[in-house]
Amino acid sequence: MERQPHETIWQLATATVASRTLHVVAELGVADHIDEAPVLSKELATRCGADAGALDRALMLLAAHGVFDRVGDAYAHTDASRLLRSDHPSSMRAFPRMMGMTSFSTSLGHLEHSVRTGEPAFGLVEPDGLFAHLQRHEDEARIFDASMTAKAAGDTAAILAAYDFSRFSTIADIGGGRGHLLRAVLEAAPNTTGILFELPAVIDAVDTPAERFALHAGDFFSDALPAADAFILMEVVHDWDDDQAATILSAVRRAAAPGATVLIIEAVADEEVLDPVVRTLDMIMLAITGGRERTAAELDQLLASVGFRDTRILPTPSPLRIVEAVAV
Ligand SMILES: C[S@@+](CC[C@H](N)C(=O)[O-])C[C@H]1O[C@@H](n2cnc3c(N)ncnc32)[C@H](O)[C@@H]1O
Repeated sequence: MERQPHETIWQLATATVASRTLHVVAELGVADHIDEAPVLSKELATRCGADAGALDRALMLLAAHGVFDRVGDAYAHTDASRLLRSDHPSSMRAFPRMMGMTSFSTSLGHLEHSVRTGEPAFGLVEPDGLFAHLQRHEDEARIFDASMTAKAAGDTAAILAAYDFSRFSTIADIGGGRGHLLRAVLEAAPNTTGILFELPAVIDAVDTPAERFALHAGDFFSDALPAADAFILMEVVHDWDDDQAATILSAVRRAAAPGATVLIIEAVADEEVLDPVVRTLDMIMLAITGGRERTAAELDQLLASVGFRDTRILPTPSPLRIVEAVAV
C-alpha cells in the first residue's frame, strides 16, 4: 500500500527511535541469550541486566520490524535477529554497536553542523578525525574493526561472483581492515598471494597470518605501499575528501607498475536515480569521516588525475560496485 505523505514524514522523523533501539539491544547482547527455543522476556532481562518491562517494549518494537519474533511473553529468533548473535558466521552485531557508539551518535546528533558548514561533525568529538580517534580508543577500535567485517559479510559473495581475482599473482588490500575480503579473495584464487596494508594498530589485532597472506603495517598518507599487480580499496576512497582520496590513489599509482590494476570497491552514486542506501552512506561520510559517495564520472576523473586509465564499473549483486582501472 502506498504511503501517505504525512506517514512518510512521521516515519522518517521517528526512524532514529527504532535505530537507537537496535543499537541498545545489540549492545546488551540479547540475541546471544536466545537459541532455538523462545525465551521469556523476563528471563532475557535478567540475563542482560535490563529492566524487564523496558526490554520487552524495546523487543516489541524490533519484532514489529521483523527483528525477533514475539511468541506469547517470549522471544524467538527470526533470520534477521539471528545475525545479531555474536557467534553467527555472518554476525552483524558489531555494525549496530558501531553506529551506536557515543562518538558516532554524538556526531550524527550534530549533523546540523555538517549541513551548515560541509565539515564532518565528528570533528566536534575529535578534531583529528575518526581514524585518529580510533587509535586513541581501543574499545571503539575493536568494535569498528569488527563492524567492518560485519558489514562486508553480506557483500563478499557478491564481489567474488562479480570478478575473477585469480588472474593476479599478488593482490594488495589497502586499508583492508582485518583482511576479511582479502582472505575470501585468496580462497577463491588459490595461486594468488595477498598483502594486507593497514594501520599498525589494526595489523597488531589481525589473527596469525595464513599461507599466502602477508601483513604490512603503514600509513597510506606517508608510507610507501607494497608492490602488487592488483590493489583493492574497499570503502576506503569514500572516507576521504577529493584531495585526500587523490593522495591515497597517488600512493597506489607509485607502487603500481604500468599495467597494474586498481579496484575501488564501494557504492557508486547516481544523481539521477537516488538510492536510499547510497544516500545514507553518503550522509554517514558527511557527518563522520568528511568523505563522500562519488559518481562514476567523479571516480573516473579522480583515477585519471593520478595516472590510471580505462575505468570500467562492474555491477555486483550488492549495492557495491567494482571500479576497475589500469595504471598508465
Ligand atoms: C571504512 S574502513 C574499510 C575497511 C575494509 N576495506 C572494508 O571495506 O571492510 C577504512 C579502513 O582504512 C584504514 N585506514 C584509515 N586510515 C588509514 C591510513 N592512514 N593508512 C592505512 N589504512 C588506513 C582503517 O583502519 C580502516 O580499516
